[in-house]
Amino acid sequence: MKPIRVIDLLRSQETGKPAEVKGWVRTKRGNKQIAFIAVNDGSIIHSIQVVAEVAKFDEELMKQISTGSCVHVKGILVPSQGSGQAVEIQATEIILLGGADESFPLQKKGHSLEFLREIAHLRPRTNTFGAILRMRHHMAFAVHKYFNDLGFFYLHSPVITGSDAEGAGEMFQVTTLDLKNPPRTEEGEINFKEDFFGKATNLTVSGQLEGELAAMALGNVYTFGPTFRAENSNTPRHLAEFWMIEPEMAFYDIQDNMDLAEDFLKYLIQYALDHCKDDLEFLNNLYDKELIGRLQFVVSNPFERLSYTKAVDILVNSGKKFEFPVKWGTDLQKEHENYLVEHFKRPVILTDYPKEIKAFYMKQNEDGKTVRAMDVLFPWIGEIIGGSQREENYEKLMARITEMHIPEKDLWWYLDTRKYGACEHSGFGLGFERLMLFVTGMTNIRDVIPFPRTPKNADF
Ligand code: 4AD
Ligand code: MG
Repeated sequence: MKPIRVIDLLRSQETGKPAEVKGWVRTKRGNKQIAFIAVNDGSIIHSIQVVAEVAKFDEELMKQISTGSCVHVKGILVPSQGSGQAVEIQATEIILLGGADESFPLQKKGHSLEFLREIAHLRPRTNTFGAILRMRHHMAFAVHKYFNDLGFFYLHSPVITGSDAEGAGEMFQVTTLDLKNPPRTEEGEINFKEDFFGKATNLTVSGQLEGELAAMALGNVYTFGPTFRAENSNTPRHLAEFWMIEPEMAFYDIQDNMDLAEDFLKYLIQYALDHCKDDLEFLNNLYDKELIGRLQFVVSNPFERLSYTKAVDILVNSGKKFEFPVKWGTDLQKEHENYLVEHFKRPVILTDYPKEIKAFYMKQNEDGKTVRAMDVLFPWIGEIIGGSQREENYEKLMARITEMHIPEKDLWWYLDTRKYGACEHSGFGLGFERLMLFVTGMTNIRDVIPFPRTPKNADF
């Protein structure tokens, strides 16, 4: 007989029959006669209760079965005497697979999230991180399911690149040069011709540019991979290594792009409601009593759509004293994004931003001042999606590249799409951890990725 997962046992009607389980002991309580051992195997937030008549077991073994240890239990599945669970295992045999002494750091309930960050190697053994990691899996699967069902193709964009997609400077360099003694050019500069790739390279900040190449061949594609930004943003919403989902669609204009973004987010949130019920209920009860209600609200109400210009009017006329004063042309800060979401009491999609504060590839509007950008703003999170219709006109794109002093030599391949069979197209990027913040109700992005990478922190 194969050991069964706790999730299957708890749902099983097969009482009176033999059952066994392998998992980790969460708690052990009881008295001299009887021990109640909660065993969790990660398959579900709930543990199964194992009931052991102490006299039937070796004394030393019973001592060693403690919080954190790993056990193999054999017995009979019986209707539970206690409340809180329908079934439990009446143990006939317990095998200690791996002991854990009193130094196991998760002895008591209710450790702070800050403390758990310091033991990120063990925090998956808590209910909270079990729930988050299971939900991460379900959300990642839902991303693939959504696009697959719509006929999009998954494109594997490179992690190492020689260009900076966003035209921003903060990247992690990738090199095999000897940092103590790098080869030099005659001018005394570091000679990257001698580096592994024969040029300076970095970890990608986005898979978009490669996504655009593929969209010009396959129609609708998406990337979903790790993304790296070396900006020193020590905030609860920034990671140096995060996962991004970037769909790119041929023949989509910005309206189509917004429709897709809204539908995609609603699908993912509904998926969480449908497939992560136990974990959501746990997080809702322990951390955020409004979590499930907020998710239900977002899936059942249209997002508000307006231009950046109208949004700035609302902010200016609000009479509110913002820490960062706002006027047309300034980049919106978190406080402004929050104000707008509060104002409309729902997610907001802002479009047509000033070209100065957006990337070179965005489609230029007729007014000469704005571009067809779209940012989706979510309650508490702020920007969850950033995207745009792309500039497909070669001359206009080149003019912007020159204006912004972007090295053309790194982008010749990207520009070729505008020379050969260019067409209207659009795309966006969803920060996977920002989505995870929203669906779990967690408030720090370090708590929705297994091993966070932030400034001065790359342990585990
Ligand atoms: O707005 P961003 O920078 O857009 C792009 O990278 C485009 N290439 C996307 C596209 O059009 N294909 O980033 C997109 C999203 C943000 O809205 C945010 O959710 C997330 O990525 N993001 C981060 N998440 C965690 N930590 C960071 N440091 C992030 N920077 C961006
Ligand atoms: Mg952005």
